[in-house]
Amino acid sequence: MAFDFTITARCPRTRARCGCFTTPHGAVQTPRFMPVGTAATVKGVTTPQLQQTGAQMVLANTFHLHLQPGESVVEDAGGLHRFMGWDGPLLTDSGGFQVFSLDAINRIDDDGVVFRSPRDGSRIDLTPERSMAIQRALGADVAMAFDQCPPYPASEAAVAEACRRTHRWLERCVASHGGGGQALFGIVQGGCFPHLREASARTVAAMDLPGIAVGGVSVGEPVEEMHRVVRQVGPLLPEQRPHYLMGVGSLREMAIAVANGFDLFDCVLPTRLGRHGTALVGGERWNLRNARFRHDHAPLDPGCGCLACCQHSRSYLHHLFRSEELLGRTLLSLHNLTTLLRFTTAMARAISEGCFAEDFAPWEPDSPA
Ligand code: GUN
Ligand code: ZN
Repeated sequence: MAFDFTITARCPRTRARCGCFTTPHGAVQTPRFMPVGTAATVKGVTTPQLQQTGAQMVLANTFHLHLQPGESVVEDAGGLHRFMGWDGPLLTDSGGFQVFSLDAINRIDDDGVVFRSPRDGSRIDLTPERSMAIQRALGADVAMAFDQCPPYPASEAAVAEACRRTHRWLERCVASHGGGGQALFGIVQGGCFPHLREASARTVAAMDLPGIAVGGVSVGEPVEEMHRVVRQVGPLLPEQRPHYLMGVGSLREMAIAVANGFDLFDCVLPTRLGRHGTALVGGERWNLRNARFRHDHAPLDPGCGCLACCQHSRSYLHHLFRSEELLGRTLLSLHNLTTLLRFTTAMARAISEGCFAEDFAPWEPDSPA
């Protein structure tokens, strides 16, 4: 069987679980954070460095790769794994979300989305069928359904409409998705409206796909709203499938999500912050450009095993950013990724050892697992 999800341990007091998601390019031990490699590169990080962070599955984007270099180039190269030199599990997002965060939308209707290329202004049509065809050509292990993620805030009517469309599009994705060596994950929408979330979770779950994602969070809503959605929707997802919370990668939010049964996460923040000189240390954000680091010869985070922390000092990193050296961006991206991956693997260990609820989710009410 090319795709399998086996639950290997459970927390007795929360919905947290450890799992093993098998793909044609290897297994992903969950819970686990997935680094974002939008344009078939995790910005500034080489493949061996990425492996050292503990990353197992990496994300790329249909929208960006369709624009540049075009899926035919990737297909000719032998697929995304060969093209980018990563032979572990890969997942592509469907393009919908990226298009909606663009200003260049011309039209959204039940057929799909029409927009102007940010590269040359040409007209591009993206439909569920088109997204599936592009993702098939890219050849990642997991393809995401083409969905509509409404902005925040949006009226109840607008979110209901986006849900209806997302569900119809999901049926078309399922109908046109080739299967083969690629799994299709459905996406739950519904914004901050509990009855829409519930209906969406039930509709997407009923499609019985190899994995299920929750989208439409971390789009500008108050963080308490996101927690509410995670607590409500987590228990509605099919138990035996991997649960992916899209676009979430802060420590506290991942811990709450894991406690509610989520397994996979992604977020551009660790690499984006790293490129801008911000390090995640002990739950804080440190700007390495700050003068306080000029004479600080301690390792960035003595508890971290990444290249930046093992080989270099805060003073050196400060110097790299002050002098705009490329290496600073690579080192902090690596450090931030390593920090998030270490956090998710520490949660996995705690679940296996039976101390997850005490160590990571003391605020979560006991729930029958
Ligand atoms: N990435 C973060 N949120 C979303 C979402 O709602 N849909 C998709 N396709 N990708 C996302
Ligand atoms: Zn580090």
